[in-house]
Amino acid sequence: MFTPEMMESVKKVEATRPSRIGMEPRRMTAEEKDTLLKAFHPDYREEAFAEIKIGPNKGQKAPKELTHLLHSNSRLLTDKVDLDKVDYDVDVLVIGGGGAGSSAAIEAHEAGAKVMIVTKLRIGDANTMMAEGGIQAADKANDSPVQHYLDAFGGGHFAARPELLKKLVMEAPDAIQWLNDLGVMFDKDAEGNMMTTHGGGTSRKRMHACKDYSGAEIMRTLRDEVINRQIPVVEFTSAVELIKDDKGQVAGAVLLNMETGDYMVARAKTVIIATGGAGRMHYQGFPTSNHYGATADGLVLGYRAGAPLLYQDTIQYHPTGVAYPSQIFGALVTEKVRSIGAMLVNADGEAFMHPLETRDVAAASIIRECTERGKGVKTPIGTGVWLDTPMIEEMSGAGTIEKRIPAMLRMYMNYGIDMRKLPILVYPTLHYQNGGLEIGGDGFTKVIPNLLVAGEAVGGIHGRNRLMGNSLLDVIVFGRDAGKAAAARVKEITLGKMNLDHVQAYAQELEKAGLHSEDVSPLLLPKYARHEGTVDSFDK
Ligand code: FUM
Repeated sequence: MFTPEMMESVKKVEATRPSRIGMEPRRMTAEEKDTLLKAFHPDYREEAFAEIKIGPNKGQKAPKELTHLLHSNSRLLTDKVDLDKVDYDVDVLVIGGGGAGSSAAIEAHEAGAKVMIVTKLRIGDANTMMAEGGIQAADKANDSPVQHYLDAFGGGHFAARPELLKKLVMEAPDAIQWLNDLGVMFDKDAEGNMMTTHGGGTSRKRMHACKDYSGAEIMRTLRDEVINRQIPVVEFTSAVELIKDDKGQVAGAVLLNMETGDYMVARAKTVIIATGGAGRMHYQGFPTSNHYGATADGLVLGYRAGAPLLYQDTIQYHPTGVAYPSQIFGALVTEKVRSIGAMLVNADGEAFMHPLETRDVAAASIIRECTERGKGVKTPIGTGVWLDTPMIEEMSGAGTIEKRIPAMLRMYMNYGIDMRKLPILVYPTLHYQNGGLEIGGDGFTKVIPNLLVAGEAVGGIHGRNRLMGNSLLDVIVFGRDAGKAAAARVKEITLGKMNLDHVQAYAQELEKAGLHSEDVSPLLLPKYARHEGTVDSFDK
């Protein structure tokens, strides 16, 4: 429960609550947003970034922790692998067992390709599983993909790659239908119509949800489909390097059994990187809402093989991570809590921003409140602002919280906090990498033939900030399309002799740049992973 000091602040929140019911705080002007972001958004902290010294993005900046991985060594400089001994031979190798990887595998399988998923944890252990609030699609009469495009393009600071964003919004209604047909249990009204809500930065209610565990429900369905189709899934096995052939095409990947430390060779005509995000890198020391395996592996794999990154310097901090209690510090408090009526208020009970500003603006606004304005609420582990959840039931009636956001209610109840009666404390948490590997509108990287990327490992779909619900959407749209495109391409490919020359060449570039790291990458598991019996012990 809350400390006496926190309870003093709760009294102020309760005192201002009646005046806030039905009130709509002013939205910031574009100029105000710009000034706020530059002063308070973590992406603008110069000291948190470092220059990439080699490779396609040489001279650009990335978070220090990511730059360090890009400057680290391949495991295969010291560990030797016999490429003539092929353990798996497939048409389509999907690296990653989350929403994008599973969607890709299902579609490649549907198209008749021999497909295999390799995943370093288990299928479904991914950020998709952790997603809560919903998935966007303009499928209502008052909405259109054009409207969806404009919202997302503006929210992403006009930096999204138009061909990628167009694909995202145009294929969204079909993605929802596909999921619905596979068995996803979306929230529907008594007539069977999909219920939709707003998210930050949306001009129409187009957020489709499965209460507040939308990602878990979607991942459950995709995983069942993969299993039902008997698509091979190699679990607890990481891809540690891409393999190319003598024509420069991607030709598979070197795999590491995380339990035994043995290496294996997977030969593949096409490879889809669907490795997800990077929250477990804890950029700038932030906690994260991400899954345990989110360590930017795909970015390192692709980059070392020569694929450029795009917007690797822009990270999404979800405005409402748990600030208290410590047991769930950094966990996601879905934006849906604000979308159904809760307001962000400071220690004095004042609403300091519109609750549905875009995420970068909301996060920066909370950081300003807790720093410059000194209006944060002190907790035993840090600071935060209130998310005034009792407003929801005051406005929409008793039972709304249990019905619409039951997982949130349960999570807080575990720690004796009844969010129907008490506000909850939040602070930004590392949630999403806006950047990633660059692809064309066809899903393929532009420089490595037959290498595709899907899901959070892609850069450029959302620009420099993503709207809520567009990530669950992109894993489905880009995952499905990658699976179809890979399967179609397979028929045209003849593989040559496999090699790891690019790994040697990258090492020489590091050497030439005077970069000598003791570390290996991809990271595979967070820094704080236990060493006994994990892959870390094999790295020593
Ligand atoms: O707030 C949320 O439920 C997160 C959604 C998203 O990142 O799309």
